Amino acid sequence: MAILKIARMGHPVLDSVAEPVDDPGAPEVQRLIADMLDTMRDANGTGLAAPQVHVPLRVVMFYVSERRAGPDPDDGPVPLTVLVNPSWEPLDDETALDWEGCLSLPGLTGEVPRHARIVYRGLGLDGGRIERRAAGFHARVVQHECDHLDGVLYPMRMADLSRFGFVDEVGRALADAREAAEGDAE
Ligand code: NI
Repeated sequence: MAILKIARMGHPVLDSVAEPVDDPGAPEVQRLIADMLDTMRDANGTGLAAPQVHVPLRVVMFYVSERRAGPDPDDGPVPLTVLVNPSWEPLDDETALDWEGCLSLPGLTGEVPRHARIVYRGLGLDGGRIERRAAGFHARVVQHECDHLDGVLYPMRMADLSRFGFVDEVGRALADAREAAEGDAE
């Protein structure tokens, strides 16, 4: 087991377009996946892409916990999923706004528009083909991780940079706003 160093925003590996994996069964790819799993668990992440651990290959992993799952059957929960050479496309024009974080931007969060429903494809851990529909958080995490393979970090997708900040400050502001709204309703 190895816990890998996570690149932070500003490191050039996060800006580059990652290369496709020729042989998902190659021992070095299997070792990379095992180390990425250890790294993601150690960092309490819900997703990780290979460029975040300084490896410019098209490999991502993620899961959707019970807590994150939504009412749509395509919105999880989803067990830990590895995707080698993933691709995705939107199923319609609907987008959704929600808060995201990233292990490469520790302590920060931003409100990011994403496609609400997508279909994605890739090769799984055992080399078998995966094709799934995703909605809500499930669709969001897949789009976020696949963006890492093309050198895109979530602030680059944001429409309103006033909705970008430190988690503890934004959390406080949102809690205050909720309190004010509840106060008005009484
Ligand atoms: Ni990320």
